[in-house]
Formats: sequence, structure tokens, C-alpha cells
Amino acid sequence: MNKIEQLHNKVAQAHLGGGQARIDSQHKKGKLTARERLLLLLDEGSFEELGMLVENRNKGLTTEQEQFLGDGVVTGYGTISGRLVYVFSQDFTVYGGSLSEPHAKKICKIMDLAMENGAPLIGLNDSGGARIQEGVVSLGGYADIFYRNTRASGVIPQISAIMGPCAGGAVYSPAITDFIMMVEQTSYMFVTGPNVVKTVTHEEVTSEELGGANTHASKSGVTHFACANEVECIQYIKQLLSYVPQNCEDKAPVYPYTLGNETRTALNTLIPENPNQPYDMKEVIAELTDENSFFEVHKDFAENIIVGFARIAGRSIGIVANQPAHLAGVLDIHASVKGARFTRFCDAFNIPLLVLVDVPGFLPGTDQEWNGIITNGAKLLFALSEATVPKLTLTTRKAYGGAYCVMNSKHIGADLNFAFPNAEIAVMGAKGAVEIIFKKEIDSSPNPEQRMNELVADYTERFANPYLAAEKGYIDEVIVPDQARIKLIKGYAMLENKVVNMPRKKHGNIPL
Ligand code: HXC
Repeated sequence: MNKIEQLHNKVAQAHLGGGQARIDSQHKKGKLTARERLLLLLDEGSFEELGMLVENRNKGLTTEQEQFLGDGVVTGYGTISGRLVYVFSQDFTVYGGSLSEPHAKKICKIMDLAMENGAPLIGLNDSGGARIQEGVVSLGGYADIFYRNTRASGVIPQISAIMGPCAGGAVYSPAITDFIMMVEQTSYMFVTGPNVVKTVTHEEVTSEELGGANTHASKSGVTHFACANEVECIQYIKQLLSYVPQNCEDKAPVYPYTLGNETRTALNTLIPENPNQPYDMKEVIAELTDENSFFEVHKDFAENIIVGFARIAGRSIGIVANQPAHLAGVLDIHASVKGARFTRFCDAFNIPLLVLVDVPGFLPGTDQEWNGIITNGAKLLFALSEATVPKLTLTTRKAYGGAYCVMNSKHIGADLNFAFPNAEIAVMGAKGAVEIIFKKEIDSSPNPEQRMNELVADYTERFANPYLAAEKGYIDEVIVPDQARIKLIKGYAMLENKVVNMPRKKHGNIPL
């Protein structure tokens, strides 16, 4: 065999991973292999593999080990829509994709390259966790990865796709990254699996219920996306990347857009006159943003707030919006955390923010108080206050109380604050306010109900409008709704070169 043939043989062997039988078994589970996933993810012919011939140790803690080229992870770089990305894809056919020391070193190598060259890191995870035969060196390998994830946070976008098991401490690398995608039915994430849960807490629960895609998309919020299958998951990664820059010093890609008729007449009738009647804020978003450009993040978690990317005249923005169609758009613990995390991503990566406000306030009650609505609500306040990207606010209807302050008010650094004419910017709704300040008068009235109605009407007339805030300059402009898109386009263009210097500090101390 000549030298070139020898190389071809080694490459062919590496491509087989843990062997054809294990590849077949992977397919039978409805899963693609590590290499098939990369082929789908990256531009055709763009993948360059590094470390293909790295081998696992030949001796484990106790036994000789079968040798596999690549050691359970395929690493390298390539392009997505022509833009450079670094990737690792765990190969479940080799020791269940479990993480050995050489496996971890391969991942660390491409993480270092991604950082030094300022390009996103994408991890396709499919792993049985720490390589049991290796013992503590495997744990060390994980920690090396966690450390790099943390150093890279806010420097390059990091995306984790979970396409198989992800258990034990292994979940913490994805958790540190910016976005997690999970595949329904074939992936799960948990710190301890159903067996340990049963032993410790006597709960009987399946893997899917405990840590499947839908559980984490709706209950815990651990994953940002639950994907129907692996192909959809990979599609989401590509779509997400289209809104974000390569690194924190770069700007997001701009899509070609020619200005036309930007008046959106539907907005004049979309918001119901009755302040208690719900409507879908996503319809407002669809009118304000470029056609079909809204890409929702965390869709099934804390639905009372909406977050996601969109484009306005071809430029990326991040949207944080109350959703009156769900719990009246109230701010609670989950909504605050969801909004804060998304805000911080956008701010770290120079993506301007749009905050749409229709919020009755923070959710009252023992559950919220005992679980820390104070600390958690403060996260959203902190995140929006510290953000220095262009920040625009549009109050579509209610902005009451503390939630008024939090939702990107002028006072916390919004650049432009718009309101629709029916906006109600006040300490609280008319009924609640009247019940407090006119309690004695109402109680002593010969007809309390009638007096109450008169006072509510009077309060509504005097306070439930945007003009008191506009008088003080807290609202820059009260606008006819159909003009909102034009105002946003012009506003973002005006703020294109915004620079804010933060006070000197090591880092802030966001309430955690
Ligand atoms: C070495 C492993 C392995 C592991 C699986 N394999 N997990 N080898 N270390 N952690 C091997 C199996 O021996 C098998 O080898 C092959 O991978 C496929 O595994 P199966 O069990 O046949 O597959 P499946 O039925 O799909 O089940 C997958 C699984 C299960 C749910 C992941 O294998 C499992 O529970 N593994 C152990 C998980 C675990 O406890 N990991 C350690 C967690 S602690 P063959 O030769 O038959 O193909 C941890 C600490 C990290 O991760 C801490 C970081 C701080």
C-alpha cells in the first residue's frame, strides 16, 4: 500500500466512526450521524475537518479500549451562507459520543480558533456524557470547555443544538451558550436521569417528561427552540445566524431593501378601543417589520412576553414585547428573565432593540413574591438599562406602574419613545386608582356604584392617555398608528452610529 492509499484508508476509517452497525442503529433511532448533520448545516464543500485522526486512549481505567479515529467528535470550520463558522458535532457511534480527554481537546481547539478569529461557534451535541472509562480527566475536559464557553460569552455567538442525550454536567456547556435548540422525541437534557430521580425523590417520570424538548421549551425555558426533527433544527440554526453578527465588534448582515409605501393602515384598527380586550401583539409585529422577517425565540415559554429577531428595512433588530393575548401581557418571573436574557444578547452583539409596550404591571401574589419577582423583575430592568444599542419604544396601549419604568422608558435610556393616541401611561388603571384614592368618597356616597363610574370616567379622561407623559418629554411623539413603521425606519437610521461609553468598571452585577 502506498502512502496516499494509506491516507485514504485512514480517512475512510474515520468516516465510519464506530462502524456501520452503529451508524445503522443511529438511523433506526431517527437520528442522523455527526457527519450527516454537518453536511446539512454547512455550505456545500465548505467543511474543513481538523483532528480527524485523533484517537482515544487505548487503555481505560480497567480495560483495553477499542480504538476509533476521531474519538467521538467531528470538529472543524466551514461556512453558512458564505460566513465563517466553527463547528463540533459529537459522534454517538463512538462510545455514545461520550467525552474523553482527546475529544474535549478537539472541541477546545476549535473554540480557541473561533475566539481568535471572531466567528460563531456551533455545537451539535449527542453524547452519553463523561467517558466513564477515563474517569476524572473527562471531567477536566468538560471544565476546560465550560471555561472557554464563559470566556467566549458576549464575544462570539454560541449556539448549541441538542440532538441526542445530554446528561449530567454536560448540560452546563449548552446552558452557558447563547441559544439552545432541542429536537423533539430524540433529545433530552437533565442533570440526573429518571432512575436517580426515582431513587432520590420517588418520582416516576420518563426521560421525555423530565427533560425532553417540549418540557424545556415550555416549562423550564432551558431550550429556546423545540424542533420537530433534526432538519428543522439545522434550519433554525441557519436562520438564527442570519440576524446576528460574527462577533461583538461586527454588525449584523444587512439585507437589501428598497423603501416603498411604508404606511401600515391595519395598525389603525388592530388595537381594540376597550383597554381590557386582548389582541395579538404578533400581528402588530408583523405590520412593523419586514415581511416574514420575524423569527421568534422562546416561543412556548412565558408567552406573556414575546422576544425574537426581525428586520426593519433590511436591518436586524431584537424585539421585546408584552403580549396582551396571554395573561394580559403581565410581567412575571419567567417573562422578566426571558426578556432580560434576550436583551443582553442583542446588546452584546450590536443588535438594536425595539420594545413594544402594553403591560398592566407586575403579577401580584405569594407565588411570585416567594419565588423572587423582585430580583427577577430587576433583571429586565437592569438589562434594558445597561443596553447601549439603539433602543426604541412604542407604547401601543397600557404602560402602568413599575412596568412602565422597566419596559424601556425614556428614564432608563431609551433613545426614542413613541406612543399611540390610545396609550394609557399612568401609575395604574383607572378602576384600581379610583378605588384607592376615592375609597372614602365612594363608600359614603348614596349611590356608590354610580359615583365610582363617574370617578373612573373622570380619571380615564384626565390620566389614561399619553399626553401627560408627552408633556414631560417622556414620550417623544404621539403617532398615528399607521405611521409607526416609518417612524421606526427613520429612528434606526438616525441612531445608526450611536456610541455610548459606559462608566469604567470590571462588570456590572445583574441581580441573579
Ligand atoms: C462511555 C458510553 C457512555 C459513557 C454510552 N456509552 N455512554 N461509553 N462512557 N458515558 C456507550 C455504550 O457503552 C454503548 O457502547 C454506546 O455508547 C451506546 O450506548 P447505549 O447505552 O447502547 O445507547 P442508548 O440505549 O441510546 O442509551 C444512551 C444513554 C446511555 C442514555 C446515553 O448509554 C447512558 O445512560 N449512558 C451513561 C450516561 C451517563 O451516566 N454518563 C455519565 C454522566 S456523568 P457500544 O460499544 O455498545 O456501542 C457526566 C459528568 C459530566 O457526564 C460532568 C461535567 C461537569
